[in-house]
Amino acid sequence: TIVILDFGSQYTQLIARRIRELNVFSAVVPCTAPLSEIQAYKPIGVILSGGPSSVYDIDAPAADPKLLELGVPTLGICYGLQFIVHHLGGKVRSASKREYGHAEVSIEDGSTPLFKELPASLQVWMSHGDEALELPTGFRRTAVTSNALAGIANEERRIWAVQFHPEVHHTPLGPQLLKNFVFGICGAKGDWTPAHFVETTVTAIREKVGTGHVICALSGGVDSSVAAVLVHKAIGKQLTCVFVNNGVLRKNEFQKVQENLRDKLGLNLVAVDASERFLSKLAGVTDPEKKRKIIGNEFIAVFDDEAHRISQETGGVDWLVQGTLYPDVIESSSVKGPSQTIKSHHNVGGLPETMKLKLIEPLRDLFKDEVRRIGRDMGMPEDILGRQPFPGPGLAVRILGEITPDRVALLQEADDIVVAEIKAAGLYTKIWQSFAVLLPVMSVGVMGDQRTYAYTAAIRAVHSEDGMTADWTPLPYEVLKRISSRIVNEVRGINRVVYDITSKPPGTIEWE
Ligand code: XMP
Repeated sequence: TIVILDFGSQYTQLIARRIRELNVFSAVVPCTAPLSEIQAYKPIGVILSGGPSSVYDIDAPAADPKLLELGVPTLGICYGLQFIVHHLGGKVRSASKREYGHAEVSIEDGSTPLFKELPASLQVWMSHGDEALELPTGFRRTAVTSNALAGIANEERRIWAVQFHPEVHHTPLGPQLLKNFVFGICGAKGDWTPAHFVETTVTAIREKVGTGHVICALSGGVDSSVAAVLVHKAIGKQLTCVFVNNGVLRKNEFQKVQENLRDKLGLNLVAVDASERFLSKLAGVTDPEKKRKIIGNEFIAVFDDEAHRISQETGGVDWLVQGTLYPDVIESSSVKGPSQTIKSHHNVGGLPETMKLKLIEPLRDLFKDEVRRIGRDMGMPEDILGRQPFPGPGLAVRILGEITPDRVALLQEADDIVVAEIKAAGLYTKIWQSFAVLLPVMSVGVMGDQRTYAYTAAIRAVHSEDGMTADWTPLPYEVLKRISSRIVNEVRGINRVVYDITSKPPGTIEWE
């Protein structure tokens, strides 16, 4: 393992991903973690991330300086460099000239293994306001920019540091530098591959579960499906998956998920059609938060019933599978202030605490793209792995106003056209989410010689990295034209199509 100590940089997760792309496992740990926690990983190397603070700020994030005495190869990046200098007796001060953005670095000492095979001059990305003024004893300068120091090293202590960011795209030769550190200096093997992950995870699950029984709430999305397939690979029929039709799924989705996961992949899948139960609870409700609460609570109730039934049939359920991903794990261990609830999210993660099930979270060390790689390695179909995110409350948050079976059917048809046309244009996997929204706005139209008075559909397509911020996607006019023409011609009940051109913030991705 390469342990990455997080000092609060926006790029910390990126460092972790770059290392993993080299097939070397990396873990992000808050900088305040006790030494014992870091040592528990048996690190072959440590990376100190960048961070927004100055080392001389009173509340500057600090790691235990004993970390620098362990003899484990260490690479400081940006704030990491300043941390090393500051804690080993050098001096850091506010720079006379701040450096943000592109810069050119001259390597002065190409003999250091960190710079192996790099040219004497490098394009890099800088982002710092402080600089190291005096180096601690035993350290020497290895690189500079025209303004400031850019690299230091002390081979005897096995410590290297750079002022620039090798992990970002704007440092084109950054990957070589990270390779030098990970393979050349730390001696990593590069054997953390999808196949290796699947093998060790499957063995670990088998040992953990023994003869126990496991349940899993499937949403049909990437995470819960890959998690279920992994557990199935480990324990086969000891796993029962529950997939609930909440009445607001997409067109044919209830059947498709069953085909994919039960028929093709052989999972033991219980499909519960509870659409009437959900829709009757939703009747007459227009408030977005109320809709979300109803669907969330109803889901828990349905799942609970099933879990108890399965528990009786199998002589007791002990474990629950969840598709938790690494960014959530890092997020919940980092310090942050209270934030306002914009929407009460529901997904298949928030499940009954009353059943006292123990958790299996086979994906909790993985980033989303890694989950897809694992799924591919296990032979899962692309239409599961490449699926765009779909909210837990489903089409309910895309039908404004009251939800009725007729409105659900209208939106299912319109949505199906949007997805089909976006796929046909080869855009589906390039867009974060693309879908239709049903507005309760009625307008006059004409069809043949007939006057129509019908609903409006809005088209939403956005680019995003993580769903936290998003930009609307400029779909080609030709695609918009086909979508619009097909919807108004094929979906009786919608006679007008509009295009949502709002970014997030200030909009949100879903309309409710
Ligand atoms: P918003 O609308 O808040 O959505 O900009 C951000 C991302 O979250 C998805 N979303 C949900 N996902 N349960 C989920 O699992 C929910 O209740 C939920 N609400 C929104 C949304 O599709 C987008 O990707």
